Amino acid sequence: MTWLQERKQFVKALLSNPAAIGAVAPSGPALAAAITASIPPNAGKVLELGCGTGVFTREMLRKGVDPARLVLVEQDEAMSSSLRTQFPQAAVLQVSAQELSRDSHPELDGIGAAICGLPLRNMSGAHHHRLLTAVFDAMAEGGSMELFTYGVRCPIAPGVLDACGLSARRVGFVPFNLPPASVFSLARRP
Ligand SMILES: C[S@@+](CC[C@H](N)C(=O)[O-])C[C@H]1O[C@@H](n2cnc3c(N)ncnc32)[C@H](O)[C@@H]1O
Repeated sequence: MTWLQERKQFVKALLSNPAAIGAVAPSGPALAAAITASIPPNAGKVLELGCGTGVFTREMLRKGVDPARLVLVEQDEAMSSSLRTQFPQAAVLQVSAQELSRDSHPELDGIGAAICGLPLRNMSGAHHHRLLTAVFDAMAEGGSMELFTYGVRCPIAPGVLDACGLSARRVGFVPFNLPPASVFSLARRP
């Protein structure tokens, strides 16, 4: 996909559903590097939520993650279709992330790591709870989920983290992104 095609696809999705996109442009290379930094090439199955045009996905492939071990979740039809074309070996699920469950989506089973590109600040606490329950229900021991936010605080409320038995840690700040972003890592509490 060329730079121009990527921008066109993003703007089209933004105009049709601004709240679901929640950003003015696809994430830049510095944020893609930061959010994928903790994913080793041998991470096993990796779940990506809210893939958009595939910036984080391409970065994972560049780092050596096996495309056949990727589970990509994107609700937008045009973006999902483009992800299928770009990453034919990956499992692309065109579903709403908060509807995910291990029972209805066996592709999730045994994921070793997850990254999240969803506009979490535009989602309710109930949606966060449902999403995190499904992700960590499927996550292998010791796995974590990295997310980004344009704020300085974790977009998941402390009450939701408590209810899910998770802790959040800020692991990065990316000033050279439009807009600047923080990266948080969520993991099960010991
Ligand atoms: C801020 S964009 C991020 C895209 C890409 N990860 C990036 O950083 O450039 C958010 C993406 O999440 C998708 N999205 C929003 N809500 C979603 C949901 N509930 N389930 C699945 N995908 C969702 C949007 O369609 C959009 O592609």
